[in-house]
Amino acid sequence: MKILVTGGLGFIGSHTVVELQNEGFQVVIIDDLSNSSINVLDGIEAITGKKPVFEKLDLKEKQDVINFFEKHKDIAGVIHFAANKAVGESVNNPLMYYENNIGTLVYMLQQITKLEHQNFIFSSSCTVYGQAEELPITENAPVQAAESPYGNTKQVGEEIIRDTCKVNEKLNTIALRYFNPIGAHPTAEIGELPIGVPQNLVPYITQTAIGLREQLSVFGGDYPTPDGTCIRDYIHVVDLAKAHVVALQRLIGKKNASNYEIFNLGTGTGSSVLEVINSFEKVSGEKLNYKIVDRREGDVTAAYAETSYANDVLGWKTELTLDDAMASAWKWEQKVRS
Ligand code: UFG
Repeated sequence: MKILVTGGLGFIGSHTVVELQNEGFQVVIIDDLSNSSINVLDGIEAITGKKPVFEKLDLKEKQDVINFFEKHKDIAGVIHFAANKAVGESVNNPLMYYENNIGTLVYMLQQITKLEHQNFIFSSSCTVYGQAEELPITENAPVQAAESPYGNTKQVGEEIIRDTCKVNEKLNTIALRYFNPIGAHPTAEIGELPIGVPQNLVPYITQTAIGLREQLSVFGGDYPTPDGTCIRDYIHVVDLAKAHVVALQRLIGKKNASNYEIFNLGTGTGSSVLEVINSFEKVSGEKLNYKIVDRREGDVTAAYAETSYANDVLGWKTELTLDDAMASAWKWEQKVRS
């Protein structure tokens, strides 16, 4: 079965391509290489023994999208990762985010709704919940006003899909709300490759330990949490990737309960920033240079997932630990810089 993965050379996309190929799917990747490298194809091949079909394509080019789907009418499902994802950048350049994340989603759905098999998985985010009143966060927690244009593109993206599903019975979709994806493939053949200074915690930790950054700033030590630092649900990217395959199989097997479903993808366990640092120091044997500084604007205090819906209905649960994720992230960082 032929599956289209947009953004398939990116961090979560590439790990998902590996899991799809491991399950016997034939994968076609679209990526514009704006935040990824063509070398990722070699990493995927090294792990799976198979190079996926790759087409460099900018999804903002509507005619190119139309032409692509004309050529690939036999696609059995689409997993749509392609999007910009830097919160700060989105604040400074909202229109770029709305064009790139929303415009391209519309173009995709316009073509997918012409296909025979209309199965669509959307990358959403726990950012839609903001600071939830109740923890752990269930899928029924209210969506709150977005803190950034990036977060808004996830909310609006979900709404666009839901509205489209209402008038297209043949369209079957699942929105996956990720908590904090971290780590790398255990082989260190693929991993996260942030361009420039990392905005996220784990690449900042590994880049500091390898000597690329002088010191990690821990944003805020006075939150109302046991150790004063923020709490997040860090999920190993390999577990996250496997959830996409399970979700896709649910749609292909017509097991979905409605044509628009939402699942949280997390471990169910919250970890503080200091716990993440401790885990890193334990598995790497390195001492991390860090300092607690002021809070970062826009950060919520705590977010972690209620996982029972995904566990029971999707039949998926995480298997890897925070230590596994930190060890794999460190192995990857060492390989990339060697
Ligand atoms: N942090 C630091 N120092 C850093 C970077 C991060 O202390 O240099 C802290 C943050 O304050 C936060 C935690 O580490 O408490 C995690 O921060 P990340 O930036 O790694 O992740 P976020 O939870 O802020 O953001 C992630 C995704 C976003 C998504 C958001 C949803 O990166 O795409 O979750 O909550 F929108």
